[in-house]
Amino acid sequence: MSQPDETARTTLFVNAAQTLTAAGPARARRGGEMREAGIRHGVGVAVQGRTIVAVEDDALLRRTFPDADEIDCNCGLLAPGFVDSHTHAVFGAARFAEHELRATGVPYLEIARRGGGIHSSVRDLRARSDDDLEALAVPRLQRIAAGGVTTVEIKSGYGLSVHDELRSLRVIARLAASHAMRIVGTCLAAHEVPLERRDEPEGRSRWIDEIVTSIFPVVAHERLAQFADVFCEPGVFDLVETRRLMEGAKQHGLTPKLHADELHDGGGAALGVDIGAVSVDHLAAISDAGISAVAGGGTVATLLPATMLFLGTGRQAPARRLIEAGAAVALASDFNPGTSPLQAFPLVLTLAVSELRLSAAEAWIAATVNGAAALGLAGSTGQLSPGFSADIAVHEVDDYRALPYWFGERLCRVAWARGRPCFQKP
Ligand code: NIG
Ligand code: FE
Repeated sequence: MSQPDETARTTLFVNAAQTLTAAGPARARRGGEMREAGIRHGVGVAVQGRTIVAVEDDALLRRTFPDADEIDCNCGLLAPGFVDSHTHAVFGAARFAEHELRATGVPYLEIARRGGGIHSSVRDLRARSDDDLEALAVPRLQRIAAGGVTTVEIKSGYGLSVHDELRSLRVIARLAASHAMRIVGTCLAAHEVPLERRDEPEGRSRWIDEIVTSIFPVVAHERLAQFADVFCEPGVFDLVETRRLMEGAKQHGLTPKLHADELHDGGGAALGVDIGAVSVDHLAAISDAGISAVAGGGTVATLLPATMLFLGTGRQAPARRLIEAGAAVALASDFNPGTSPLQAFPLVLTLAVSELRLSAAEAWIAATVNGAAALGLAGSTGQLSPGFSADIAVHEVDDYRALPYWFGERLCRVAWARGRPCFQKP
């Protein structure tokens, strides 16, 4: 929570048909708590500086703040900005060929084994300048903001050398400093073993050592990221390697996140819980033991339904079983050039209802409060409550269920992050 700036002008968001506050405890919502989206009518929001100072009936807001500026929600939906807690938005070119190759039946991990997939994005990123990478990311972030996203996490992971991983994180830091959206960096140096290390004796373990001894200390020292992620998957990094990486991250003050049990169950989710990861992400192949571990621990289960759709696996994470077991489920886009080229975040809510079988209210909580929790930010963003960051979106629908329903439409009209506009529909 932050203190309001009483010297700043007050702005009121008023005249909403419906307000989804997601108000409640400043922590991840688990199991049945996810059903409570805090739907109100005739209620607006007052903002001073970067902070929400009141969430009250419009008439009361106008009496309390008679000199305030007003944003007319025009009978739309007033809601917290979305938190997209898992993206890989800093990359070079798209990967069209691979999309078609998978359609012919070549699996995702086989493409990587042949030196494509992540490795083609690595070759491409290494050949580009920082300015080029930044310039490519800016319009992507604008498209993400246009979906009503006010916080976005971005991972490195297409550098796969000390130099290029740090370079990617510095580009993310530059984007964070210049964009109105809140941008959170994550070090994903452990996205893969670089191709040039494959034939080197001890290449794998030398890369892992290098991440721990040459990348994490610099990331921590320069505050380039708060989180460190690992692609923990049979055929990529195994449990022993992942534990070594995550212990190393923690020693440098970085909080673990994991790509876990995406394509095969490797026990990654349970390891993530055990090691104190803030989130375990993907989980399409999670085992029953993994579900119990996540439900019983303090780690958010972040589901990425667009990835499974785009990969054409015909499979999705067992979201209902996770929620019914009492887990805190978040939703994110996984925006990346290989498995989820999705910048229109509201489609994730559609997939959550249609594919993951969430209710619309659960999908909203998963995309706001629980997304914030997956970034350690549930104390300051994800809900419309006094003291929270003014991260607000207005959508051109009069019912929160309409956003997942009218899929493919551009329905966000205005988005503010930390009390400043980050998107305005032309
Ligand atoms: O989350 N699974 C690993 N990483 C990304 C995909 C990266 C890529 O293919 O470029 C993911 O799906
Ligand atoms: Fe990912």
